[in-house]
Amino acid sequence: MRIPARSISVWRLLAAAAGIVVTSAVFLLIFPWQKAEAVPRQLIPFPHVRMVNAGIPCLFCHPGATKSPTAGIPSVDRCIGCHKTIATSSPLIGRLFAYFDQPIPWQRINQLPRFVHFSHEVHVARGLNCETCHGDVGKMDVTVAVYRFNMGFCLDCHAKQPNAQQLKDCGICHY
Ligand code: HEC
Ligand code: HEC
Ligand code: HEC
Ligand code: HEC
Ligand code: HEC
Repeated sequence: MRIPARSISVWRLLAAAAGIVVTSAVFLLIFPWQKAEAVPRQLIPFPHVRMVNAGIPCLFCHPGATKSPTAGIPSVDRCIGCHKTIATSSPLIGRLFAYFDQPIPWQRINQLPRFVHFSHEVHVARGLNCETCHGDVGKMDVTVAVYRFNMGFCLDCHAKQPNAQQLKDCGICHY
């Protein structure tokens, strides 16, 4: 039996619609999952916005960013230095005191694979601010990764630098 031309285009339309439905289903499946993955639960929720609004500079807690590859996460001693007098009645701060003599096992938010080398010092010395790569952390109640640090993220900015040729050399990031 011959299928009339009109019904062929109906079939095409149906196939296209099915394609769209499948694609959106895949997106819906992937995206909530990626979000859950991107926001690990901290044992003590750390509200950046509260501390930054109180006027505490990023570098007070992450001083490594100007002088070493890693920015560093402050020790419990540093938190307690303030919190023995600030917000002492908060249950969250109560939980903090339980970590007096052991490090808080903070879950990492941003983490490059081990085969990629990155140094904060070089980038911060070039005048890049934290927000360029981390978004507006100072407004966050829960710390999230704003950008995914894939190779394109690094190379897009490197391509705009005066020494772009040197900055796209595989060997500067992978060695
Ligand atoms: C050019 C991009 C860039 C800039 C600018 C930048 N960071 Fe980062 N940051 C990264 C990357 C990439 C990682 C993940 C590094 C890794 O896994 O080795 C990271 C990780 C971190 C971490 C967790 C790991 C660590 O190094 O202790 C902290 C905290 C951090 N950044 C804070 C800051 C602060 C504060 C500033 C501003 C003073 C800043 N960053 C500026 C890209 C950047
Ligand atoms: C330089 C002083 C200082 C340091 C260091 C500091 N904080 Fe804070 N923290 C504050 C101030 C100020 C507030 C806001 C208090 C308010 O809004 O009443 C605050 C608020 C908080 C809150 C919200 C409390 C609540 O329930 O309202 C938490 C949780 C917290 N800090 C955890 C920490 C942790 C964890 C560290 C260490 C990594 C730390 N803080 C280091 C000054 C500090
Ligand atoms: C009072 C101390 C304090 C201040 C001030 C502070 N941070 Fe943090 N920061 C922390 C702690 C503790 C963590 C780990 C908990 C978390 O990830 O929320 C952290 C985590 C981070 C991370 C994620 C690290 C990772 O695992 O990849 C980034 C990025 C960051 N801070 C950037 C900033 C920037 C930018 C500022 C200034 C706008 C700032 N911080 C101010 C204490 C601080
Ligand atoms: C917003 C711009 C920007 C982003 C994003 C960025 N870089 Fe850079 N990067 C620079 C600049 C500027 C320099 C310094 C160039 C110079 O001084 O020669 C640099 C230099 C470097 C160097 C050479 C210096 C050194 O540390 O040995 C490496 C390696 C590097 N970046 C790795 C990375 C990686 C890995 C990422 C992504 C996770 C990244 N960069 C993201 C701007 C950026
Ligand atoms: C500015 C830094 C930078 C430079 C230059 C760079 N890479 Fe990468 N590369 C990265 C980052 C960051 C990742 C991690 C990607 C991720 O986690 O998604 C990566 C991942 C990779 C991977 C693993 C890919 C995967 O899917 O897991 C390969 C392979 C790779 N790079 C090869 C290269 C080659 C070849 C070059 C030179 C042509 C190069 N890279 C130059 C930063 C860089």
